[in-house]
Amino acid sequence: MASFAKSPVVLMLICFYFYFLPALVAQSPMSLEDNILPIFSSSTQYFGQSDPEIPRNKVNKTNFGLHEEYTWDSLLDALEPDEKLFFLQRHGEGWHNVARRLINASYSDWQCHWSIEDGKGDIEWFDAELTPRGHDQIAALSTKIRTNDGFPMPDKFYVSPLRRTLQTWQGTWSKMTDDTAVIKENAREKFGIDTESKRHSKSFIKKHFPDFEFESDFSDDDTSWENDKREKAQHCRFRAASLLEDIFEEAKDDEQVISIVLHSGIIYCLLNVVQHRTFVVPTGGMIPVVIKMEDTYKKYPLNDAFSDFDSWCPANLLTKVGASKEEVLNDAYIDYFDSEEDHAEKKKLFEAFIS
Ligand SMILES: *[C@@H]1O[C@H](CO)[C@@H](O)[C@H](O)[C@H]1NC(C)=O
Ligand SMILES: *[C@@H]1O[C@H](CO)[C@@H](O)[C@H](O)[C@H]1NC(C)=O
Repeated sequence: MASFAKSPVVLMLICFYFYFLPALVAQSPMSLEDNILPIFSSSTQYFGQSDPEIPRNKVNKTNFGLHEEYTWDSLLDALEPDEKLFFLQRHGEGWHNVARRLINASYSDWQCHWSIEDGKGDIEWFDAELTPRGHDQIAALSTKIRTNDGFPMPDKFYVSPLRRTLQTWQGTWSKMTDDTAVIKENAREKFGIDTESKRHSKSFIKKHFPDFEFESDFSDDDTSWENDKREKAQHCRFRAASLLEDIFEEAKDDEQVISIVLHSGIIYCLLNVVQHRTFVVPTGGMIPVVIKMEDTYKKYPLNDAFSDFDSWCPANLLTKVGASKEEVLNDAYIDYFDSEEDHAEKKKLFEAFIS
């Protein structure tokens, strides 16, 4: 092995594949394949939640995690030209967040049966709306923003097309600004199979949420969602990078502050793409992150972009020939649990279910 690796020819080949080839690709924004997108990074300097040295439970949330030696103004002054301050906001509690508990379904019943229904009785979780508690969470966040000293009002607002995020945007920002938000398809939640991740048509959204704008190529029907195909983390990361690239390209240099209202799963992918540590944003929560678009590019692979109903409903996977519990845990499970918060709770349920 060692002498093989020392052979000059092999070394040259290794150099070519790992250094020169990516370098060539990185130089060419006019990519041949459309899954070549910019590399993104995030600063660890300004916020407790962005600094891996600070334990997550020790982050001082007073000023949305901003370190005491900074003010919002001094932070904005310190930003480099290709850095922007993003507020990543998760919707308030929606009916899909509480439905399993309300209908008293077991984890497997929820996953394999109820999650693919639109609702039960009076509870609807298809494109779920906010619960009363969700509305209260958002009212509280809105007050926190309005009373925060020197809070930097976003120059641009973006929002996922799902009802819970549109309602969240209204409850948070509409009293504070005359601006509106642009609906971006790529801000939506990881999609497919469960109905909570399916959106209404553009005409429906226009009718019920007339104050929002749509990105230019927004389709009337939901062409992404399918009932037997679930987006995996890889595709979600590609989408997060596409969303960021759009936003950086649209924003003018002096538009430094960007707000996006979105969901736990896509926030998880986005933090991953900007090389930020995983950080749980609870329902009704918001974290600031300083994000930089690098001038280098990389391929966001799409060879493992979707899974199917068998991975969604683990009971089916277990009956598949050769699938062991470990495989279920390692493959299926890891991909579809979105946040660490969900992770801990669902891991317990899942393990109980398959044991
Ligand atoms: C958190 O930060 C605020 C000011 O941003 C400060 O007044 C407070 O003492 C800090 N709390 C802790 C526990 O350090
Ligand atoms: C929920 O289901 C469990 C098990 O099926 C049952 O023991 C319990 O009484 C149910 N609770 C409610 C509130 O229906």
